[in-house]
Amino acid sequence: MPSVLLTGGSGQLGRALLGALRDHGFSVAAPDVQAWDLTRWTETQAPVPFDFELLINCAAYTQVDQAEQDALAAHTLNALVPEKLAELSKKRRALFVHISTDYVFSGDSRRPYTEDDPPFPQSAYGHTKLEGEMCVQAAAGAYYIVRSAGLYGPGGATGKGGHSMIDFILNTARAGKPLRLVQDQWTSPTYVGHLAQGLVRLLERRPESGCYHMVNEGVCSWHEFGTEVLQQAGMAAEILPVSLAEFSQRPAKRPTYSALENRKLNALGMRMPTWQEGVRAYIAETR
Ligand SMILES: NC(=O)c1ccc[n+]([C@@H]2O[C@H](COP(=O)([O-])OP(=O)(O)OC[C@H]3O[C@@H](n4cnc5c(N)ncnc54)[C@H](OP(=O)(O)O)[C@@H]3O)[C@@H](O)[C@H]2O)c1
Repeated sequence: MPSVLLTGGSGQLGRALLGALRDHGFSVAAPDVQAWDLTRWTETQAPVPFDFELLINCAAYTQVDQAEQDALAAHTLNALVPEKLAELSKKRRALFVHISTDYVFSGDSRRPYTEDDPPFPQSAYGHTKLEGEMCVQAAAGAYYIVRSAGLYGPGGATGKGGHSMIDFILNTARAGKPLRLVQDQWTSPTYVGHLAQGLVRLLERRPESGCYHMVNEGVCSWHEFGTEVLQQAGMAAEILPVSLAEFSQRPAKRPTYSALENRKLNALGMRMPTWQEGVRAYIAETR
């Protein structure tokens, strides 16, 4: 099995991917930020003391609102770091895998975005992630850019306070409080366990280089998502539907519609589980 260097292994997706890779027999080095600070490395370009045949980048600047004020730090982590990692991979003749986001799209669509749809980000975070994609395409040898959406996993994203969307829904219901959930923003919420399994299958399958969408199949609003979570958990709570406009006091603009279609994966016969199956798997894992 090829040896893997994984960045962002302490993050929400990175933790799930580290487990999935090891379960499939990959040998993985996953240095944390203390062992390898990528921002500093981009400035110094110090030699990288790891051997690898595969480099997977799950590190990112993921605080969407903060990125509006902190554009330089977001640009460094989301664009310059992927570029340098792509160059490093090419030099070592290694496959480079980079994770990107639905936030590269404008949100004006009314059908799931495919890999061929033109990106048009609306936030600083989305801009830096798109820049990262372009840098990787230009600098890498063999590469996969994998776009996903609405990630949730145990412990949540480290960059967003350590709670998943499902934790928030269930904790609010347990506290007997009403849930305010957006009814006019649609996406493809994705369980990191399923994304990690999908990434491992991609590595085993090795299709041609390029950009691939990888989300739990289907589309829902956050209101529909919350309703499904409560039903599957066997809990009840009052759900107050709210509009995205009511939530739009936040600094960064969110895409109204950012569901993704796994068109290229489906063409390879690599079907992802549905978003309802994602909820079920998360509840089973965290029960
Ligand atoms: N969250 C979502 O809803 C979502 C949706 C679509 C796509 N994505 C993409 O999915 C990927 C993974 O996101 P996630 O949710 O797993 O994010 P996360 O939990 O915030 O993880 C980010 C990771 O980056 C690491 N990191 C930050 N600064 C670093 C530095 N200077 N040097 C080395 N490592 C550094 C963090 O380390 P520490 O833990 O030590 O800070 C952490 O391991 C990202 O590319 C993101 O853009 C996320």
